[in-house]
Amino acid sequence: MKWRRDNGFSNEREPVLQNLENFQNEDALLVPHFRSKAKSLKEAQAGEHTADDALKFYSERKWPECDVIVSNPPFLGATKIWKELGREYQSELWRVYEGRVLRGADLCCYWFEKARDSIEHRDCRRAGLLATQGIRGGASRETLRRIKETGDIFFAISDREWILDGANVHVSMIAFDDREQAEKWLDGNKVRKINSNLTAAVDTTTAARLQVHRELCFRGVPKVGKFELTQEEALRLLGEPNPSLKPNSDVVRPWMNGLDVTRRPKHLWIIDFGERDKEAAAQYAEPFEWVRLNVLPTRSKNKRGHRRDNW
Ligand SMILES: C[S@@+](CC[C@H](N)C(=O)[O-])C[C@H]1O[C@@H](n2cnc3c(N)ncnc32)[C@H](O)[C@@H]1O
Repeated sequence: MKWRRDNGFSNEREPVLQNLENFQNEDALLVPHFRSKAKSLKEAQAGEHTADDALKFYSERKWPECDVIVSNPPFLGATKIWKELGREYQSELWRVYEGRVLRGADLCCYWFEKARDSIEHRDCRRAGLLATQGIRGGASRETLRRIKETGDIFFAISDREWILDGANVHVSMIAFDDREQAEKWLDGNKVRKINSNLTAAVDTTTAARLQVHRELCFRGVPKVGKFELTQEEALRLLGEPNPSLKPNSDVVRPWMNGLDVTRRPKHLWIIDFGERDKEAAAQYAEPFEWVRLNVLPTRSKNKRGHRRDNW
């Protein structure tokens, strides 16, 4: 309706909404198969099956042949997939797309892989999809690397603000084909090529590991709780004395990751008690109190015993 209005067509028709036969309400990734002849979980359950019993397995959804795939697929970080869609759905996704989408990839990457597959098999000529901007890195980026193996990205907006459910998120817009289109556009500029991290400069995604850096690199701090502090909070804690006379600078430290080096410093700090046990940590009164208030409540609900005990 908005398109019709913007393009000078009238919306005065009855009924306003028309039946559109080409819309299908189906799962775009997996096809569920049921034990009985039922077509849906509801039907199967009505036939005296429990949900687990009724569902037999999932297979890959085949997409119809077409000229172009346009999609605004759902964004969902890998760690949230099972929380939102259930363990079973997640493990079936992993099984069906094994070797094609990494387990750590965002849910939207499955749409990218399916579009790539369609283009590779000449079931489609080109595709344009929205993604979380996170697709430029980590396990999600592998999807783009794979797209460039069998075809190429000819258009991308690397980072664009987007309002989603009232929240301000950052998205990437990416179009790709079977290398038919020679002209490439990145962020509004004509470029020679678009790398899988959606840059056109030196392709750092193919950088190799330096042997001399072995044992010098560490994957970073897995915090499991809100240990991080803003600079303001950190400076306050650093100024607080302790009855033990120990300085809080022993345990309040600047915290950086790769992005602080390659982009701009975020000036974050972290409370790090290291190997100290609870009694030793408690000698740093204010930092200990911070962790008790901000970390303990979530840690005490953690499924893993040692994470609860060693909060
Ligand atoms: C970001 S919204 C985009 C909606 C619409 N295409 C648009 O552009 O306004 C993503 C949509 O994908 C749907 N979705 C989520 N998982 C899906 C799946 N497995 N198969 C098909 N659609 C799915 C969601 O319900 C949601 O409507």
